[in-house]
Amino acid sequence: MKITFYGQNTLALKIGEINVLVDPFITGNDLAKDKVDINDLKADYILLTHAHQDHTLDAEAIAKNTGAIIVSNFEIVNHYEAKGFEVHPMNHGGSWDFEFGNVKYVNAIHTSSFPDGSYGGQPGGFVIEGEHKNVYIAGDTALTMDMKLIPMQTKLDLAVLPIGDNFTMGVNDAIVASDFIQCDKILGCHYDTFGYIEIDHEEAKRKFYEKGKDLMLLEIGESIEL
Ligand code: NI
Ligand code: MN
Repeated sequence: MKITFYGQNTLALKIGEINVLVDPFITGNDLAKDKVDINDLKADYILLTHAHQDHTLDAEAIAKNTGAIIVSNFEIVNHYEAKGFEVHPMNHGGSWDFEFGNVKYVNAIHTSSFPDGSYGGQPGGFVIEGEHKNVYIAGDTALTMDMKLIPMQTKLDLAVLPIGDNFTMGVNDAIVASDFIQCDKILGCHYDTFGYIEIDHEEAKRKFYEKGKDLMLLEIGESIEL
């Protein structure tokens, strides 16, 4: 499994021959918009954790370009289905075997309105089991005890956790989250994009390191192989 970071919570997962894009937000991200052309992005599926603009802004344009199937909670999927997009509805606690692997939509503590204020259901995260690698993409969330449920069923190889604080967990809570999910290999996301969530990279990495954990912070467009 190859994972590429495109800023904020935007991730491209290449699982076998299938391209899975998560939370596309590029044209509105000053850190990413000059580095990434959304017309170059491949997607067979677009997974959306919640409806906020910094997770969904480019979903329509990319789905139009690629014909990707949009996967999210029932309310978000209804929003896109009404616009003529191909969709797969899920809801919390549910999982589905897609052609690239199993996806479970798990709890997140956050909110989920569309930019116009319309209802975007309840926010979530994804546990993706594909190509013998298991990844947890937390989405925007507070630290929550529900995270302890994940390792009861899935041994994670990587977790993508928000670390920017203010709107989500910050570094200290993300360290506790990594204990809860029993995964010491963390890819940080949801930091630096706006003033409220700017972080000190070296301090964040050091804090994880001191707990025996590995925090990876990728450049925009940088990839890792699992
Ligand atoms: Ni959000
Ligand atoms: Mn967000």
